[in-house]
Amino acid sequence: MPARLSEAAAARFAPRVIDWQRRHGRHDLPWQSTRDPYRVWLSEIMLQQTQVSTVLDYYPRFLARFPDLASLAQAQLEQVLGLWSGLGYYTRARNLHRCAQQLVAEHGGQFPRSAQQLQALPGIGRSTAAAIAAFCFGERAAILDGNVKRVLTRVFGIDDDVGQAAGERALWQLAERLLQQVDARRAMPRYTQGLMDLGATVCTRSRPDCAACPLQDGCVAARSGAPERYPAKRQRAPRSQVTLWLLHATDGCGRVWLQQRPASGIWARLHCLPQYASGDALLQDVPEAARAQAIERAPFTHVLTHRELAIHVVEVRVANSFGAARAGAWHAPDAWPALGLPAPVRRVLEAAAQP
Ligand code: ADE
Ligand code: SF4
Repeated sequence: MPARLSEAAAARFAPRVIDWQRRHGRHDLPWQSTRDPYRVWLSEIMLQQTQVSTVLDYYPRFLARFPDLASLAQAQLEQVLGLWSGLGYYTRARNLHRCAQQLVAEHGGQFPRSAQQLQALPGIGRSTAAAIAAFCFGERAAILDGNVKRVLTRVFGIDDDVGQAAGERALWQLAERLLQQVDARRAMPRYTQGLMDLGATVCTRSRPDCAACPLQDGCVAARSGAPERYPAKRQRAPRSQVTLWLLHATDGCGRVWLQQRPASGIWARLHCLPQYASGDALLQDVPEAARAQAIERAPFTHVLTHRELAIHVVEVRVANSFGAARAGAWHAPDAWPALGLPAPVRRVLEAAAQP
């Protein structure tokens, strides 16, 4: 497909993006006013799976607590997970912490300056590495996140399944080729930001604003009249179904019993209600005296990338001795906000705590 791309179409792409970013792109996001790789890296990791509006809330709090790489590297993982609490996709926080420690241990506390070296670090994929290198060091490195994939498949009318390796490879080639037209390294931050901004604000998933788009002239998807048909729908494997039983045990003072999950698995190291594979296994573990008063809540579904969890919650009121022979601890409601809790567990606790 890049073979079909005319020189003229390739040549006009980047200048249009750059000019549009200058006049209509976003200029006042807090991570745009710096070339400090620590701050740019943190913003890019947060923005990977989280909307700008949410990141605007978390980013300054994180920086206030961990203003630089050294302070993050010295932190306990617990503290980092606590500050991440509510952002989801906690693997990002674990990798962030590991990455900081690795940079301090092996790179003298400095970020490497090329996309290729950045990509070797924990949690930094090809596109994130390119974004950091472009923003901080002006490297001519191509990004290709979900937004950019959408823009490119629409403008160039690419029908391949970009979820498949071959389709993705071809898009990377195209992204690299378009970059050759960025006239000076000085323009790389603006070009990179412009692509992100176009995907986020104009060429949106539904109802793109083609009339306001600098790429409309020559855009295959716009001309087709149905731009939303791109990118081609992914064929994804159906999610596996998992049933979880969670024991919501409270003491007389509103405290709840939480256990830290092991270091691997979907909720690694987060605090969770005790978890069981079946309702019987759960009840076996409830002290006999409390069993008769156990309340089973209506189950609900929590959807993850590759799994669909059917979550059953059983509530019991137990005596303080409940904790004597088991892992975990009592946690009062005022301690919950700072704990790393899986989103559905937070929901369960907060719903039950409503007066
Ligand atoms: N999404 C990913 N990176 C971003 C950035 N630098 N600005 C706005 N949105 C983004
Ligand atoms: Fe997207 Fe429309 Fe712009 Fe094409 S013209 S890139 S479909 S917003």
